[in-house]
Amino acid sequence: VPVPTTLPALGLCRGTNSESPQVPCVLTGRWINDLGSIMTIGVVNGEGGFTGTYRTAVSATPNKILPSPLQGSQHHPNQKNNPTFGFTVNWSFSDSVTVFTGQCFVDKAGEEVLKTMWLLRSRVDDAKDDWKATMVGTNVFTRLQPQE
Ligand code: BTN
Repeated sequence: VPVPTTLPALGLCRGTNSESPQVPCVLTGRWINDLGSIMTIGVVNGEGGFTGTYRTAVSATPNKILPSPLQGSQHHPNQKNNPTFGFTVNWSFSDSVTVFTGQCFVDKAGEEVLKTMWLLRSRVDDAKDDWKATMVGTNVFTRLQPQE
């Protein structure tokens, strides 16, 4: 049974997905990606800034995985649908940093989806190893429902 969803960050209430395909993308909330990583994004402020926590499901290191802070920014909050955004994860358990950039879309079923690309920079001891220090990839995030 479709359930009406409230969008507190915008002070809006939308109908069921089948009734209203024009759902604004809101970054605030809990998301899961295709690797099983989970991120939580807090309130997006009036300038588009936000913070959150990233729990990666995988690591390029053998270190014990810990929740890590993220800081980001989205374009023109509350003005246009499908906003672009970027955020940085400063990994708590390694010397690496990942930057993500992406865009929020609404799929045919009315569900928000974040299409992203990322660069993962690992620390190397010597500049001559710079060539092998950066990985690139893509991740797709979908919204975690409250009970998940
Ligand atoms: C590290 O390995 O040093 C930190 C963890 C990196 C996890 C990467 S970031 C890009 C990709 N997407 C994820 O959700 N996890 C991996």
